[in-house]
Amino acid sequence: MSTPSHRKLAVVTGASSGIGAVYADRLAARGYDLLLIARRRDRLEEVATKIAASHDRKAEILVADLGDEADLARVERDLAAREDIELLVNNAGIARLAPVAQAPASDSAAQIALNIGALTRLTHAVLPRFVARDRGTIVNIASILSLHSLPVSAVYSGTKAYVLAFTRGLQSELEGTAVRVQSVHPPATATEIWDLSGVPLSNFEPEKVMTTEDLVDAALAGLDRGEAITWPSVADEALWTSFDTARGTLVMASQTRNPAPRYRAA
Ligand SMILES: NC(=O)c1ccc[n+]([C@@H]2O[C@H](COP(=O)([O-])OP(=O)(O)OC[C@H]3O[C@@H](n4cnc5c(N)ncnc54)[C@H](OP(=O)(O)O)[C@@H]3O)[C@@H](O)[C@H]2O)c1
Repeated sequence: MSTPSHRKLAVVTGASSGIGAVYADRLAARGYDLLLIARRRDRLEEVATKIAASHDRKAEILVADLGDEADLARVERDLAAREDIELLVNNAGIARLAPVAQAPASDSAAQIALNIGALTRLTHAVLPRFVARDRGTIVNIASILSLHSLPVSAVYSGTKAYVLAFTRGLQSELEGTAVRVQSVHPPATATEIWDLSGVPLSNFEPEKVMTTEDLVDAALAGLDRGEAITWPSVADEALWTSFDTARGTLVMASQTRNPAPRYRAA
């Protein structure tokens, strides 16, 4: 068993089901002790018991609603006080897929609070210590929808675009340090997220739906390869490179004081 002086602790938010539960299993297999966070105590306990049995690692649970201010503040304080966190997987997320004009504003607020707010604040909770000791990894779970908006995903896509932009900003801020931040962009993956999303998983062709195991194993392989941004289902790596090159070219071209000729008065 590990001792406090050399144990590696990984924190996984949204560890009670789906992608987070598989991260917990795979990280335990890699020798991490776990701190598992979500709202459903019974499901967290199941995951923790399995980890203890299969990998002989310690798995602690922290029951919290990360969309609730008091609970989030409690988790922030807990993470900030721990000295042995090596890895944070910001995975907890919800999707409420409906046209904005027909959806309650509370659904948008809940997606923003969890997918953006909690992810950002838990990053704040661990990052100063990671930077001070020049070690630590943050994995942010985004989505392929970080780069694409559907008629029902304006808010969800917006939250995941934030995850990508936030991750990239951190990566440039941390350049030259040994602190790593990865964003992961899953395609449709077979999890419970779809049950409350408003779009049933059965709407997808089965060959377009990834398993949680394939998703997490690919994402961790991406982390092992040193990737900053991982698209687990995209076979042709050049697609990301050319997209990102075009993005960089557009940003460079925008950096001038002169309005573009098409916007000048004739
Ligand atoms: N599945 C996909 O197709 C897909 C595709 C792209 C990206 N993603 C992203 O993958 C991540 C994981 O989702 P999943 O697909 O694995 O879905 P999931 O099985 O529904 O898991 C979501 C996790 O987040 C937790 N959670 C939800 N609301 C919470 C809250 N207020 N406070 C604390 N924890 C909360 C849930 O636990 P409790 O209910 O117990 O709190 C659960 O453990 C999300 O960020 C999602 O956006 C999923």
